[in-house]
Amino acid sequence: MPQPKTVRDYIRTIVDFPHEGILFRDVTTLFADPRGFRIAIDQMLHPYAGQPIDRVAGLEARGFILGGAIAHQLSVGFVPIRKKGKLPGAVISEEYHLEYGEAVVEIHHDAIEAGERVLLVDDLLATGGTAAAGIRLIERLGGEISGCAFIVDLPDLGGHARLDAMGMEVHTLCA
Ligand code: PRP
Ligand code: ADE
Repeated sequence: MPQPKTVRDYIRTIVDFPHEGILFRDVTTLFADPRGFRIAIDQMLHPYAGQPIDRVAGLEARGFILGGAIAHQLSVGFVPIRKKGKLPGAVISEEYHLEYGEAVVEIHHDAIEAGERVLLVDDLLATGGTAAAGIRLIERLGGEISGCAFIVDLPDLGGHARLDAMGMEVHTLCA
């Protein structure tokens, strides 16, 4: 009897994207599959069952797809953390480094109220630069991070250890 596919089985690896030497974990094949997408959302939600969460924050771009579905399941609002220059209102910003470049992320200055418990969501944790910048933005607004949920963990790039060292509760589904 063939075993049911796991989340990892739905993800493909593209060699040398977006630069030579990068093994790009492509989750579009997971999102495109109705069973794959459902089990990914269910597994990301599992550690937070029964926990009080006020908001989900998603990191651009694939964190929007996951975060929207997770916020809907939790019946809470969704807050986008976007690349520089994309949000229309007043923002606060954080610079960060990632596996293949540097960037700035932003959040609307009034997106989170002090004391709100926020679940941070993205597709993949590599160096942790993006997630750490997102955490700094949420904490600058007075939010409390309930957890950080990702599908893919690339622990050799140090992100998981970095978020652990920040005192974060980190959940990932596969390497
Ligand atoms: C990818 C991924 C994470 C980030 C992880 O996004 O979706 O957001 O890299 O890397 P890190 O842990 O080293 O920060 P990318 O920056 O490629 O942006 P995109 O989603 O807008 O394509
Ligand atoms: N973001 C940073 N490193 C990545 C990788 N290897 N695959 C997909 N997204 C990434």
